[in-house]
Amino acid sequence: MSRALNFNPGPATLPLAALERAQKELLDFAGSGMSVIEHSHRGKDYEAVHNEAISLLRELLEVPAGYEVLFLQGGASTQFATIPMNFLTAGTHGAYVLTGAWGEKAFSEGKTVAALYGLSAKVVATSGTGDGKDKSYVRVVDSIATEPGAAYVHLTSNETIHGVQFAVAPGAEFPTANAPLIADMSSDFLWKKLDVSKFSLIYAGAQKNIGPSGVTIVVAKREFLDKGRKDIPKIFQYRTHVENNSLYNTPPTFGIYLVRNVLAWAKESGGLAKLEADNREKGRLLYGTIDGHAGFYKCPVDVASRSLMNVVFRLPSEALEEKFVSEAKKQRMVGLKGHRSVGGIRVSTYNAVSVAWIEQLTEFMKAFAKANG
Ligand SMILES: Cc1ncc(COP(=O)(O)O)c(C=O)c1O
Repeated sequence: MSRALNFNPGPATLPLAALERAQKELLDFAGSGMSVIEHSHRGKDYEAVHNEAISLLRELLEVPAGYEVLFLQGGASTQFATIPMNFLTAGTHGAYVLTGAWGEKAFSEGKTVAALYGLSAKVVATSGTGDGKDKSYVRVVDSIATEPGAAYVHLTSNETIHGVQFAVAPGAEFPTANAPLIADMSSDFLWKKLDVSKFSLIYAGAQKNIGPSGVTIVVAKREFLDKGRKDIPKIFQYRTHVENNSLYNTPPTFGIYLVRNVLAWAKESGGLAKLEADNREKGRLLYGTIDGHAGFYKCPVDVASRSLMNVVFRLPSEALEEKFVSEAKKQRMVGLKGHRSVGGIRVSTYNAVSVAWIEQLTEFMKAFAKANG
């Protein structure tokens, strides 16, 4: 079998080693005579996998003491609602930073929940320009000015559709906020080391950098979670999942098992330092090729905000973009079409995308520009 060069934005390619391990263990997990999928989530075989996934994540991300790691369900979109449900209390508001479409979605859900409570959600920083179909985001924001009473400030560390990412340059920091900082890291979780202590809560759908869809990771300060409301259904209270080690109800066991396999692969391959080095090299190759053919390829994003996870660019015409996608497909390079709301090309270069794949893609890009420019 020859594996496709899969540049999908999510669900995305997974490390071959993690999939092969699943294949090997599928029918007979740990000599139990059954698949991990068929095990009770309360049994010791599954529990070992569950706890290994949590401890691998703690180790790789250097999660500080006082922080919890949770495996939840419902995707990042459910977090858009769960966060305001938990943390908006009398006299407070939700504060949102908008640097792309996903931040807008989080804000919209924040407004809906706030209205149910008779409260509000506000935009405290945005890099958006234009309206409707012409709305565009080509950079992050430098600073966040909160008003008194912000229950939290929510930002999206990497905007998957617009290709705009915070803190990309080596040593670059996230802007600080005068309220607990919450980040949707769905599309750049674990792309490099991170100072978790700067955040009160981080969440990510697993299906881009760390596993299959169906698992949502939350890393959060215990003290912050403890402040969450107690008058909402138990299943939506973070404390319920903390108190039950993410085993309050049946978790997505097979998904968590695969996350374990991906995290084990990440550790064996050299941890976050190695992933970061590879991600930077992939970005150098791609943006170098785009800028090196400036009359043909054009990345709309400001250099300092260019994402190393979702590289977006345009060609001189939509017809050429279609041709690019279809010719790439003939060479088994798939998932390159930009999001339907913005068009163009998008190369998702998550952790499991190898430098070799990007070398192959950039060679294709150079040849395509030469033949069609
Ligand atoms: C940054 C970001 N946030 C949220 C989501 C929504 O995630 P889910 O489909 O897991 O709800 C996505 C999905 O692509 C995303 O890229």
